[in-house]
Amino acid sequence: MHSEEFSSVEQLSYLLDENDGAMTTLANASAYLNELLPSINWVGFYLLDQGELRLGPFQGKAACTRILPGKGVCGTAFSRNKTQRVEDVHAFPGHIACDSASNSELVVVLRSEGGEPIGVLDIDSPLLNRFSAEDARNMERAAKIISAEIRLK
Ligand code: SME
Repeated sequence: MHSEEFSSVEQLSYLLDENDGAMTTLANASAYLNELLPSINWVGFYLLDQGELRLGPFQGKAACTRILPGKGVCGTAFSRNKTQRVEDVHAFPGHIACDSASNSELVVVLRSEGGEPIGVLDIDSPLLNRFSAEDARNMERAAKIISAEIRLK
C-alpha cells in the first residue's frame, strides 16, 4: 500500500456513522476497502457469534459462512488475537480456500474496548505476497476505527 492510502484509511472515521447499526457500518467499510485496495479479490468480516466466526458483510465471491476459532487464517488470527500476514496461502497449514483465485491473505483482528477479539477483517489477493508490513499496520488501524464504530451500539 502506498503511504497516501494511510490517510484514506483515516477517512473511514468520516465515512462511518456512529448512528448506524453494525451491519450497515461493516457493509460500507467492506465496500470502501474494496475500492481502496488494488489487486484484491475478497474483503470482508467474520464476527464472533455463539463461539464461531460467522460471515458478515463482504465484497467478493460467496464464502464459507462459519469458521471455528483456531481454524484457517481467520480463526488463527482470532484465537491468537494477532494479525496474520500470509505470503502464500497454499503454504499455510489449514488454510480454508473459499475462492480458488486467492494466493495471499491478510487478516487483522476487531477488538472490544478491553482488547478481546470480537471478529476479523479478512482480505484476499490473487497475487502472491500482496500484503506488506505497512499494509498490515494500515489495516490494523482500519480495524481499530471499525471496531470503535461497531462497539458504540
Ligand atoms: N481463507 C480464509 C477463509 C475465509 S475466505 O478467505 C473469505 C481462512 O483460511 O480463514
